[in-house]
Amino acid sequence: MQTAEPPISYFMEQAVENRDLISLAAGLVDGDTFPVAEVRAAAEEVLGNPDAARAALQYGTTQGHAPLRDKIVAKVCQLDGIAPADAHLSADDVVVTTGSQQLLYLLGEVLFDPGDIVITEAPSYFVYHGILASLGVRTLTVPMDGDGLITDALDELLARLESAGELERVRLIYTVDYFQNPTGLSLSRRRREHLLDLVRRYSRRQRILILEDAAYRELRYEGDDVPSIKSLDADNRHVVLAMTFSKPLAPGLKTGYALMPRDLVGPVLRFKGNHDFGSNNFAQHLLDRLLANGIYERHVRRLCDAYRAKRDVFVTALRDEFSAASGVRLTRPKGGMYVWLEAPEGFETGMGSPFLKACLREGVLYVPGEFCYVEGGPRPTTQARLCFGVATTDQLREAARRLGRAARSAGLPRLSLPRMARCRG
Ligand SMILES: Cc1ncc(COP(=O)(O)O)c(C=O)c1O
Repeated sequence: MQTAEPPISYFMEQAVENRDLISLAAGLVDGDTFPVAEVRAAAEEVLGNPDAARAALQYGTTQGHAPLRDKIVAKVCQLDGIAPADAHLSADDVVVTTGSQQLLYLLGEVLFDPGDIVITEAPSYFVYHGILASLGVRTLTVPMDGDGLITDALDELLARLESAGELERVRLIYTVDYFQNPTGLSLSRRRREHLLDLVRRYSRRQRILILEDAAYRELRYEGDDVPSIKSLDADNRHVVLAMTFSKPLAPGLKTGYALMPRDLVGPVLRFKGNHDFGSNNFAQHLLDRLLANGIYERHVRRLCDAYRAKRDVFVTALRDEFSAASGVRLTRPKGGMYVWLEAPEGFETGMGSPFLKACLREGVLYVPGEFCYVEGGPRPTTQARLCFGVATTDQLREAARRLGRAARSAGLPRLSLPRMARCRG
């Protein structure tokens, strides 16, 4: 049995048991943003037409509702600034999945044998590490900086594996390349090109794939969008782009999708057939309506406004608590839902640490950064993932204050002067 209890369960339980607790741990979506009226109108539209209603309530196909797949291609092309006529992709390259999570698992089932190698960012989306462990995969990691995964370090790792005769076991590079969970960082344009170049170059005996997990792509609060790695993969050979409607719309619909090399579609569908022979068909018909009438796009714009305000409040409140002099470093994400905190050397944030205990006493919770690193590799114990998705702006201000108090009581030196005093100073 390779499947361990995921650490996130502990944090979910804490959040449910202590009502006064402000949880920055679970990566949930803000329920206040859900487009309830719009989804109801879409449901009425589907159910109000007897033929449409019967089609939506019937089983769908394993690959997914064809009109929705068309709209998905158009949407991704629009994000990438490509005219659909110029795209090297069509609805045949799309598979609709039960959340993007299902795709992450399915692709692993299709591709990996025990002992195969997958390379991820360090830190990375820890739920994916669980999938890799359950499939018996060896996970190696590459560090990140402000521009995302350090592709020169990946080059060195691949060269080392080649020298050791292990290059043939490398199947896939996994990147959460927009506003990464957990750091909030994105992969720069130059590194996207370099990454694709590397997988092409090192695909000697077998093809190495990039799994581009763009779950947070549409939650951008500033700056210009960057083209997906998929859009650079002109012969549709090396990149699987996984996206989802969970973050930009509603996770309750649990609908994700992937654009992938054509030769992978069949094998993925065979495995998906074994799992469920098709994701929730009704949800797909609703999404098709929401995309058709422009409601989805309008909603994403509103959502970004709401999250941008939260991010601004949270980052400002955190900076008030943790001045630069405290040695604490914080990311200021341009999108997504996560701030990454790095405490100075020696200030522990892990399970059982004085800081985590103090946070629980104060009533605030975060995910210890160590969970975001694979077991067996280097696991820094001084970091934390802070999700600003669910809490209200008032709660985010209060959460930052509680984190500050907890840090001081756990021994971090006096972190900041009160705002006024600093202004005068
Ligand atoms: C990076 C990343 N990928 C994939 C998922 C899976 O989301 P879903 O299955 O709801 O699409 C999540 C959810 O938190 C995520 O953070």
